Amino acid sequence: EKGGFPHFMLKEIFEQVNSIYDTIRGRVNAEASEIYLGGISEIIPKMVNAHRIIIIGCGTSWHAGTVGEYIFEEFTRIPVEVEYASEFRYRNPIVDANDIVIAISQSGETADTLAAIKYAKAHGATVIGICNVVGSSIARETDAGVYTHAGPEIGVASTKAFTAQISVLVMMALQIGHRKGTLSDELYKKYIQELYNLPDKVKAILEKNDKIKEIAAIYKDSTNAIYLGRGCQFPVALEGALKLKEISYIHAEGYPAAEMKHGPIALIDENMPVFAIATNDNYYDKIVSNIKEIQSRKGHVIALVNDNDTQVKKLAEHVIEIPETLEYLSPLLNVIPLQLISYHIAVMRGCNVDMPRNLAKSVTVE
Ligand code: M6R
Repeated sequence: EKGGFPHFMLKEIFEQVNSIYDTIRGRVNAEASEIYLGGISEIIPKMVNAHRIIIIGCGTSWHAGTVGEYIFEEFTRIPVEVEYASEFRYRNPIVDANDIVIAISQSGETADTLAAIKYAKAHGATVIGICNVVGSSIARETDAGVYTHAGPEIGVASTKAFTAQISVLVMMALQIGHRKGTLSDELYKKYIQELYNLPDKVKAILEKNDKIKEIAAIYKDSTNAIYLGRGCQFPVALEGALKLKEISYIHAEGYPAAEMKHGPIALIDENMPVFAIATNDNYYDKIVSNIKEIQSRKGHVIALVNDNDTQVKKLAEHVIEIPETLEYLSPLLNVIPLQLISYHIAVMRGCNVDMPRNLAKSVTVE
């Protein structure tokens, strides 16, 4: 059942070659440059005219939603708010019939997310689900939805569901942005083409598994770790930190890199590994200076860089090379080495990676 892998988590990390493809296949027509999401086709006009979108979820699904905020705002220019479902449901949020709420959940059974959906619906909002489990409570409760076709996810640590959720958010944002005219025809087409290049790029990252394992061996006894990213890589940093926390029990935090100087940099010393996402984008030069600041305080930098990187390769103690892609698709690739690092560290520490202590696959209680 684990398909020859020692754990479900590793199997599911490797399945991302197919799960991203399965999520876009049949929905993105590269030849015609068309995107069709059957489950929300009737709601698209409402989404195009929306004044605001609220995304809710918990844990990894909230991280995917936060990546979605960057993508939606860039492509559609619609303001997006992302909120933990548990906070949303209890704080008397302002939501009405003009609102589009997108609820993200792998299991479709998360109690807080379900309650938040009921609240939003009761206040007249249109609620769209992004779920992995077909026929789940959230899938049934939402007005419309798009399934992530990731296949069953057994490992408690969510991996392939995360990349499938982002794939759905990308498709939605591309479609709405193109309809609205806030995303150029040229860029729209470029993204559509590139979506189909992702499986090979995922494969290229997975081929680096041995190297990633070697890096994991160096830092397996750490007691803390920091993950840094900017722009849409910031939520990827959060997700990297969550993966490490939940399966290896190492304390880890994700930050937007520029926040370091407002406090967290005080934590940096010779015992601190810092995972820095430094793939090419608008923030590249900024990240380079953040890396220098960490190194001058003796922190150990493990950087994710693109193949054609020039500066960070010379600076960082370790680099993991990632094939280049378009900016808003890069979270789909960058999260993979972070998943693998956590996996290997947890295994080396003797942890039960598929069933970490104190955690359940779906959190059906609040
Ligand atoms: O099934 P859901 O996506 O609603 O679950 C949400 C969280 O409970 C889940 O992502 C959790 O944080 C995972 N353990 C993360 O790996």
